[in-house]
Amino acid sequence: MANVNITIDGKQLSVPAGMTILAAAQQNDIYIPTLCFLEKLDPHASCRMCVVEVEGARTFQHACAAKVREGMVVHTNTEAVRASRKLTLQLLLSDHSVDCHHCLRIGSSKCSDLDPKFCEWCFMCDCEKDGFCDLQRLAREYEVDKLPFEQKHNTKPIDKTSVIVRNPNKCIKCKRCVDVCGKVQTVHNLAASGRGCEVVIGPAFGKSMAESSCVGCGRCVEVCPTGAIYCAEHKDEAVYFAHRDGIKTVAQVDERLIPELERVWKCAPGTVTKEQLAGSLKKIGIDEIVDAADGAALARAEAEQMLSVHLGNKPVILAQSLAAQKFVQKNWPDLMSGFVFAPSAMESFGHAAKAAFFPEAAQVKTYHVGPVGPDAAEAGESGCVDFAVNARELYRIMIRTGSEPNPKRTAEFAKLPTPELNPAFDPLFADADWQLDGESETVEIKVGRKKLSCAICRNLGQARAAIDSGAFDVIRVIA
Ligand code: SF4
Ligand code: SF4
Ligand code: SF4
Ligand code: FES
Repeated sequence: MANVNITIDGKQLSVPAGMTILAAAQQNDIYIPTLCFLEKLDPHASCRMCVVEVEGARTFQHACAAKVREGMVVHTNTEAVRASRKLTLQLLLSDHSVDCHHCLRIGSSKCSDLDPKFCEWCFMCDCEKDGFCDLQRLAREYEVDKLPFEQKHNTKPIDKTSVIVRNPNKCIKCKRCVDVCGKVQTVHNLAASGRGCEVVIGPAFGKSMAESSCVGCGRCVEVCPTGAIYCAEHKDEAVYFAHRDGIKTVAQVDERLIPELERVWKCAPGTVTKEQLAGSLKKIGIDEIVDAADGAALARAEAEQMLSVHLGNKPVILAQSLAAQKFVQKNWPDLMSGFVFAPSAMESFGHAAKAAFFPEAAQVKTYHVGPVGPDAAEAGESGCVDFAVNARELYRIMIRTGSEPNPKRTAEFAKLPTPELNPAFDPLFADADWQLDGESETVEIKVGRKKLSCAICRNLGQARAAIDSGAFDVIRVIA
């Protein structure tokens, strides 16, 4: 596509025609705040945080939706634009259960007095998203010290019927969760109902999460910019058992949480190592620490066994989480006898940990420490491990217990039994993460004389297409 010439904040740029102002700005390291926008999905342009001034336009433009035009001159940070964004935040916070922003402890709610570091030490506020919340971050950035409107103290019921908790009093109706659940995961569990100010985002027909068609993939939690959807946390219990005499503890660490931790510790990528994390977990009181790759290897060994038994007869679903399994069970109940489910890495770790380290112990508690995602939902529902601790929880636990990552405090990883793996399956088990868009990848593996066609699906929408096609012997589902 041809390029157009535009100017953003005095910078002359040549960018592809058809691009949004936001994409053009981001590509050129110009910051425009956003709340409702989710990269790779169509914009709703509903929050008004990204408004910018475009010369010649009569109203502010939404940078996430407005396309660049030849000769366009854009200003992203004028006084009027900043005032408009601040007003947006004030309006949002006036209709929000603000547990975090007005701090009793400091005796002042002036943003300039709030030291985020102090807040992280304090723990007086009561929001699961505190410190990880886009709305809070923007409120501090725009110094929303006062709310000039009457604050609505919403008391809509909090839905705690499932591990995925919904607090509608903190929802800003950005619909990110609706898009991820519907367009990406194809579960379509969440939707908007009601009108105007009374819009509620939740499962259809006012159902609770437990009654709904939610499969517990946790992706709505990942994309929600506030504390309106979160996974139930168990920080206190997790720490309590780590210290309790007579109870042995084993944790597996999924290193994909390291970038999330580095972001919250505000340190450069590559600063925090797995060995430092192991050192921190030892300080918290965990007895043995293993690499999540060990659990994944055990899960793979079980999957390989299933493949060798069912090769070519039944499609094997490598359900890398309970959410993946539930998704398949709910959508293809008639075909269930035709599928074979392989376990998740967390499940395999949970089964193996006690026997591997503390076969004689009366009580063993197992921990899976990993990124935000479906792990907490799976642990809560299946009990395959006692605690799934995500990056946010670990961060808070570390601060509380003085066990932040420290190059001088490292520890060795223990080993779960190492199974023998067949290299022929390597392409199927290559590293792959969940993604918002794209299509599944097809790989072919050869086992003995048989060739197997395999789909690697990085979201549930991709898995749906792969199963419906009937074209694969193996379908790996990352939910
Ligand atoms: S959702 Fe964000 S702004 Fe709202 S109380 Fe929680 S941390 Fe504060
Ligand atoms: S956990 Fe997954 S399935 Fe459930 S509501 Fe959220 S996105 Fe939808
Ligand atoms: S629950 Fe979260 S992601 Fe969904 S609409 Fe509300 S604020 Fe947005
Ligand atoms: S980010 Fe553009 S309107 Fe919300």
